[in-house]
Amino acid sequence: MSDTQIAVFKGKRVGVLMGGSSTEREISLKTGEAVLASLKRQEYATVGIDVDERVAETLRKERIDLAFIALHGPKGEDGAIQGLLEILNIPYTGSGVLASALGMNKIASRKIFLFHKLPVPEFMILGRGEDFNRIFEEFELPVVVKPSCQGSSVGVSIVRDKAGLSAAIHLACKYDPEILVEKYIAGKEIHVGIVGNQALGAIEVVPKTAFYDYKAKYTPGMSTHIFPARLSKESYRISLDYGLAAHRALGCSGYSRVDIIVDEQGLPYILELNTLPGMTRTSLLPEIAREVGIDFDTLVYKILLWAIQR
Ligand SMILES: Nc1ncnc2c1ncn2[C@@H]1O[C@H](COP(=O)(O)OP(=O)(O)OP(=O)(O)O)[C@@H](O)[C@H]1O
Ligand SMILES: [Mg+2]
Repeated sequence: MSDTQIAVFKGKRVGVLMGGSSTEREISLKTGEAVLASLKRQEYATVGIDVDERVAETLRKERIDLAFIALHGPKGEDGAIQGLLEILNIPYTGSGVLASALGMNKIASRKIFLFHKLPVPEFMILGRGEDFNRIFEEFELPVVVKPSCQGSSVGVSIVRDKAGLSAAIHLACKYDPEILVEKYIAGKEIHVGIVGNQALGAIEVVPKTAFYDYKAKYTPGMSTHIFPARLSKESYRISLDYGLAAHRALGCSGYSRVDIIVDEQGLPYILELNTLPGMTRTSLLPEIAREVGIDFDTLVYKILLWAIQR
């Protein structure tokens, strides 16, 4: 940590917004604790704020100069808390209101990716209660069924036989009124880390489960991470380009993580973009950063810096 790094935020009080009410609350608390510990190591004045219905009063009372948003999922990652911080004139980390809202909604973000000619898996939008038999006219199995606005693979299923479809749709519809049904892409799963205006690199994940589900994401030993992702030079470069293009297409700032599947021909398909990727010490973005020489504390610092540069 250089003296200039410390000087920029000297005397500033950073609030770490964490917890919240989404299905990803537990993960957010872990992200928040890791960020808090890092800020303390860097000798910043900090306060952890568990976001609840009284958050506006808490933010006023705590008199923070800057908010580090360590939330995941609806109300934290979707522009809601960002809107409140805008009103309160508190600078915050990550993307603004619109980019956050677009990133959280897989249907909205896909429409924008398509406009920018970025490849996404073929998909269909299904409303709650709609007849799902038309899926069989457009897709061969397996298909992936997912809610439009969740994370951590909550509500995501891979359907390999007709009998499993109804339960998968029922599950996804529990979370959102509109869901996505999409082509299953067989290949390598990679995650591209973006910090500032740069794609840092792509890490490959190999889950021990059928796909990168909640268990594979958060149980130690349930997935292997390989850096750099084992792709041809060309596929790797294109994946990084698509990742950065996706970040720009949604108008993101600060940082993000773009989830991609590269098919057996080496063609990348964007699954989604996360505007507030996990920041626990074992999460993928910090791991990518570490691999390219950016330690956790420097990553946290860079994210803070982008908050005041936005
Ligand atoms: N079209 C697809 N083809 C193959 N696998 C897929 C596809 N869509 C999703 N998956 C698998 O499901 C996982 C979760 O999907 P996705 O990233 O869309 O959901 P998420 O819940 O938003 O995840 P995150 O935790 O990154 O926010 C992916 O990491 C991948 O393993
Ligand atoms: Mg994902």
